[in-house]
Amino acid sequence: MMQEKYANMLNMTELATPEKMLFPFDTLRRLRHETPVRYDSNRNCWDVFRYEDVQRILKDSKTFSSERGAGAGSTILFMDPPKHKQMRDLVSRAFTPKAIQELTPRIQSIAEQLLDAVTEDAMDITSDFATPLPVIVIAELLGAPKEDREQFKRWSDILVESADDLSDEAFRRITDKRMKAMEELYGYFRNIMGQRAAEPQDDLITALMNAEIEGEKLTEKEIVSFCVLLLAAGNETTTNLITNGVRVLTEMPELQERLFQSPDLIPAFIEEVLRYYPPIVAIGRKATDQVQIGDQTIEKGAQVISWVGAANRDESRFVEPDDFRLDRKPNPHMTFGFGIHFCLGAPLARLEGKIAFQALLNRYQNLARASSGSIQPIQSSFVFGVKNYPITMHI
Ligand code: HEM
Repeated sequence: MMQEKYANMLNMTELATPEKMLFPFDTLRRLRHETPVRYDSNRNCWDVFRYEDVQRILKDSKTFSSERGAGAGSTILFMDPPKHKQMRDLVSRAFTPKAIQELTPRIQSIAEQLLDAVTEDAMDITSDFATPLPVIVIAELLGAPKEDREQFKRWSDILVESADDLSDEAFRRITDKRMKAMEELYGYFRNIMGQRAAEPQDDLITALMNAEIEGEKLTEKEIVSFCVLLLAAGNETTTNLITNGVRVLTEMPELQERLFQSPDLIPAFIEEVLRYYPPIVAIGRKATDQVQIGDQTIEKGAQVISWVGAANRDESRFVEPDDFRLDRKPNPHMTFGFGIHFCLGAPLARLEGKIAFQALLNRYQNLARASSGSIQPIQSSFVFGVKNYPITMHI
């Protein structure tokens, strides 16, 4: 999703090693303390680290715009009011928490099937479980036929694939690949829409085609863009929520027994994973005017990066922010954003997370990081996660 948004933006120098990317939080703490608002000339953007400042930026969509202009497509993520509200109202009708809740039995059976396919006492949690689960869920939700699933996953992977290195060449290669996948996906969804027009189904695409406000329907382009956004915004993030959560369980194994004994703590566990190891660590905006944040003056037109990964551990908002606590209440992390763009898929991500951990903890004990092989961070300036996470477990 936001990868495309900052395709030309390098990671910041302070975090540009694999070790830092696997654990950026000490660096983010230092930056929050030393330079809470600062300009980075390498990346030509401002970085903001404090909770209060991040919240203010995300709240003020007038001064801090999501618009990206030409090439951004017509996705709500990159719209400002009033267009954003109209579009969000429309898609929210098809994407209600109730509609999501009804997916529970399907998500459960997909999770169980994936784990049934694991026949040994070891797996890569990322590729065996955390990656396919959200892809299959979203494919079903949209109404993509089963036989297209492989192809669907390929497209979905390309949309979120990150460059192997930070060279211009690597970025160009990945951008070309992504554009091609995008074109194919547009054709694919346009085709499904044609079929649904002739024969409506009980799926999200049909619902989006029928939704209207004051007699106005979504255009074909808007529907297709929204479907593509769901893939790009919903899959890798949810994958990382699950993998990051398993990473927590292996780093703090005492949590496994606790959650097994009290499964009703799983939602609190998910919220704390979102805060502690957030799948998204940074969110971008553009200043529409000259504006003061802290003791810095940000010029009109500047890129502003809000580090939710730093805000989530701000000691002015969270007690013992570097401790993982199941009893953290309230837990006002900003991993799903804040304000008008607050993640539309949050109920789905939370539900998938809950079901994933219920399934894992029901089935396995002693989840541990496998001793063989090193783990690789995802190379990205806004996503926090690992490419692979091999584990062992007792069945
Ligand atoms: C927006 C995070 C899962 C769909 C956002 C934003 C964040 C976010 C931070 C706001 C971006 C901004 O303000 O610029 C996450 C995380 C997820 C997750 C951490 C998983 C743990 C999902 C899922 C879906 C989804 C599963 C749907 C299938 C969307 C959409 C928006 C959005 C449509 C745009 C909302 C708007 O602009 O009004 N997400 N997301 N997300 N997310 Fe998610």
